[in-house]
Amino acid sequence: MPTDNLADLEQQFQALKRTNLALDLTRGKPAAEQLDLSNALDGALAGDFRTEDGTDARNYGMLRGIPEARALGARLLDVEADDVIAAGNSSLTLMFHVLDAAQNAGLCGPPWRESGAKQKVICPVPGYDRHFALADALGMELPTVPMTDDGPDMDRVEALVAADPQVRGIWCVPKYANPTGCVYSPDTVRRLALLPAKARGPFLVLWDNAYAVHDFEFPAARLTPLLPLARAAGTEDGMALFASTSKVTFASGGMAFLGGAERFLADMEKRLAILMIGADKVNQLRHARFLGPRLEQHMRAHASLVRPKFEAVRRGLERGLGGTGLAEWTNPRGGYFVSLNTRPGLASESVALARQLGVALTPAGATFPHGRDPEDRNIRIAPTFATVEAVAKSIEVLALCVKLAAARSSSAS
Ligand SMILES: Cc1ncc(COP(=O)(O)O)c(C=O)c1O
Repeated sequence: MPTDNLADLEQQFQALKRTNLALDLTRGKPAAEQLDLSNALDGALAGDFRTEDGTDARNYGMLRGIPEARALGARLLDVEADDVIAAGNSSLTLMFHVLDAAQNAGLCGPPWRESGAKQKVICPVPGYDRHFALADALGMELPTVPMTDDGPDMDRVEALVAADPQVRGIWCVPKYANPTGCVYSPDTVRRLALLPAKARGPFLVLWDNAYAVHDFEFPAARLTPLLPLARAAGTEDGMALFASTSKVTFASGGMAFLGGAERFLADMEKRLAILMIGADKVNQLRHARFLGPRLEQHMRAHASLVRPKFEAVRRGLERGLGGTGLAEWTNPRGGYFVSLNTRPGLASESVALARQLGVALTPAGATFPHGRDPEDRNIRIAPTFATVEAVAKSIEVLALCVKLAAARSSSAS
C-alpha cells in the first residue's frame, strides 16, 4: 500500500475523530418503531381470559401451553401444534434446559454425563455467541466447523460425528443464520436430520429457528422442514426445535416455543415441571389473539422498517470496500445481521479504530467460541437498532477503519 494512501487515510481518520460520533451497531435488538408495531398487545385481552378450550389463562397449569399459542408456535417451527410446547419469554432459557436435561437428567435416554468424559457440541463459525457461552457454561467442549452459504460444512460435521463418540450435538440457526444470514439448503437439512443415526452416542440437533419469519426481501426464502425428515429416518428424538417472538413482538416480553417429537417433549415436560407449574398463559393468550390473524402482515411491517437499514449496510460496504480486496460480506434476505470478513488479522484492529471514532461494533472474535477468531477476520454488523442515517455513517467509518488497519499493517511489514 503506497504511503500517500496511508497518509490520506490517517487524515480522514483524524477528521472523523473531530466530529465526535457516538454510534452503536453492537446490538441485535429491534428498534423502538419495531416495538411500536406490537403496542396493541397491551389491552388485547380486554378482560376475556378464556382460551379456545375454555381454560382460564389466569390460573396455574397447562405446562405445554394453551392450544392457540401452540398453534402459533407450530407456524414458526413449521410443525404440527402437537409437536410444540409453548413456554415462557425466552428460547435461550429453553435451550439451556434442553442441554441441561440431556446432560444431567436424561432426555430420551440416559444422562450424557454417565459416559464420564466431556461432552462436545459442534459450533458452526461464525455463529451466535450465546449458544457457545451456554454450552461452555455446562462444561461442554466446542469444536468448530466453518459455515458455508448452504449452512454448516456438512462434510466436516459428518466427519467429526463419525470420529468422536463424545460429540453430542450441533448448534443450528437454520434460517438467516446469526451472523451470516444464510438459509440452510435442503441437502444440509436432510443431512442434519440423519446425524443422530450416524453419531456414536446420543445426539441432538439444536435447531434454533430464531428468524423463521424475519424475511425482509420477497419472495421469502423457504427452509426445508426438519422434523418430517427426521421422522422418516427414525431420528426424531434427536431433534430440539426452538423459536420465539422476541423479535416479532417485544424482546424479552414475548413467548418462546420448544418443538420436537412426543418422547422428547414428554421428557422435557417432566423436567420443566420441576421448575414451574405453568408458563405465563396470559401472555400466551394475548400473543395468540394479536398475532394469530396477522403474523404475515405484521412481519411485512417489520420488513419495511428493517430493509432500508440492511440496504444502507450493503451500499456503504460496497462504496467503502468494494473492489479493494480487503473484505467480503454477506447480503442476507432476512434476519438481523450481516457478517463481514476482513483480510486475516484486521478485524480486531478495525473494531478498535472504529471505537476510537465513536462507533461501537460487536467485539471482533465474538462470533467464535471463547471469543477467539483464529484468523481475526470476522465482524458482526447489527443494523436494526440504529437509525438508517446512523447505520450509513457507521458503515462509512467501519470501511475507513478496515482500510486504515490494512494500510498500517502493510506499512509496518
Ligand atoms: C440465534 C438466536 N437465538 C436466540 C436468541 C434469543 O432468543 P430469546 O429472546 O428467545 O431468548 C437470539 C437473539 O439475538 C438469536 O440471535
